[in-house]
Amino acid sequence: KNVPPTIFVIFGGTGDLNSRKLAPALYNLFLDGWLPEQFAIIGTGRSELNDDAFRERLLGDINEFSRTGKVKAKTWDGFAPHVYYQQADVKTAASYKEFGQRIKALEQEWGTMPNVIYYLAVAPEFFPVIATNLAKSDLATDPERTRIVIEKPFGHDLDTARELNRLLAQHFEERQIYRIDHYLGKETVQNIMAFRFANAILEPLWNRNYIEHVQISVTEDIGVGDRAGYYDTSGALRDMIQNHLLQLLCLVAMEPPVDFTADEVRNRKVDVLRAMRRFSPDDVRESAVRGQYAPGWMQGQEVPGYREEKNANPQSNTETFAAVKFFVDNWRWQGVPFYLRTGKRLHRKASVITIQFKEPPHFIFPREATENLRHNRLVISIQPEESIRLQMQAKRPGVDMLLNTVDMVFDYEGTYTVEAPEAYETLLLDTMLGDQTLFMRGDQVEAAWELVMPILTSWQNRTSQNFPNYSADSWGPESAEALIARDGFHWFTLP
Ligand code: BG6
Repeated sequence: KNVPPTIFVIFGGTGDLNSRKLAPALYNLFLDGWLPEQFAIIGTGRSELNDDAFRERLLGDINEFSRTGKVKAKTWDGFAPHVYYQQADVKTAASYKEFGQRIKALEQEWGTMPNVIYYLAVAPEFFPVIATNLAKSDLATDPERTRIVIEKPFGHDLDTARELNRLLAQHFEERQIYRIDHYLGKETVQNIMAFRFANAILEPLWNRNYIEHVQISVTEDIGVGDRAGYYDTSGALRDMIQNHLLQLLCLVAMEPPVDFTADEVRNRKVDVLRAMRRFSPDDVRESAVRGQYAPGWMQGQEVPGYREEKNANPQSNTETFAAVKFFVDNWRWQGVPFYLRTGKRLHRKASVITIQFKEPPHFIFPREATENLRHNRLVISIQPEESIRLQMQAKRPGVDMLLNTVDMVFDYEGTYTVEAPEAYETLLLDTMLGDQTLFMRGDQVEAAWELVMPILTSWQNRTSQNFPNYSADSWGPESAEALIARDGFHWFTLP
């Protein structure tokens, strides 16, 4: 895989995303030898900075946030000359003219026509104006060589997502549009497809005949921090379920694609979303619960409740926890519940998919031999632990026939010595290589919005919640336990 000459324009160059994720990722790609000699990063922002000041800033960010630790002077001297800064007001045509001139100058210097990637690491209200101005200034006319990367949130609801898709489609071809869902770039998430579709032994079991239910749980211990300004207009359903968790569900539930090409893979995922059962208002009451965290203590520290967070509305009804029970109405999954939950300020950070298989059809051992553990479970741990474990029953050593649950474990740390790239490294490289497999296609985003809309609407119409309803350091509101307990199950947590 070779990256062609590339100019990477980052709108929001002085913003948080660039500091924490993009700049460290680009630097690590450079370290790993992925970036070509003819490569430029142009950061843009409203602040007045010169190239050197911007480079210094990025150096600080990379030192702080890169997985590879402190930058070595020699590699920095190799990297820094590729970095430029341009002050810009994204609303005025003059700024785009200046981009055009910069790009032209690099083209001339390199003696080649590079690919140009425009990365919109800005608040969503700027997506339309930047996309439109890029097009108007003829900066993105060549679909072969120019691409636009859109961060989340992609729309605030179905209508706004559609509107944004329409606007983008006026100016860009779909093959130019890279909608980010950073979960898809995570190593362990990519491995779900490898695990499912490169192992023949799983497919015969991967259906309603053998699988009893599936849990997808993405719990976070952090609160909203200083993001309440955004989060208060969003909530857990929009922020996590509509995108990350539903994408995980698609990876678990999708049919085998014919090959590993972008549209084939994405078609199979859209099939899942289309097959998912739609909620009526009554279903929402039955199948979806929400919560908001109260003040409390975490790891010996006093922490504010959501309503007390900076920039949060003190009467906010925004949910910081959501749990939903979904069904995929097709032949493979009919009747198999998929329980999704996510929330902030929970006891532990853990993203885990659990596939619980049915019990053996007939059990020959005495009840007391089993400690009631009769299910096999496949536990795919995405983060922070990175592992896949298959839970089996086995005989406990001793003269009695007693059984125990044991784990067959594949863990990344014990198996590989190389550190995996961060999600953004993979995704940024893919944008440069022109591979859209791990990006959201327009119809995928809309299908996911379509699915969550009835829940959003119903929640909006029923604002009278007893918020806050879960304490910091817990596993969320009691109603989330009740949701799954009604079906005879409980939420799993890693040991
Ligand atoms: C983001 C959400 O998309 O994902 C955040 O906006 C959330 O609220 C984050 O904290 C979680 O990502 P990760 O990679 O830490 O699991």
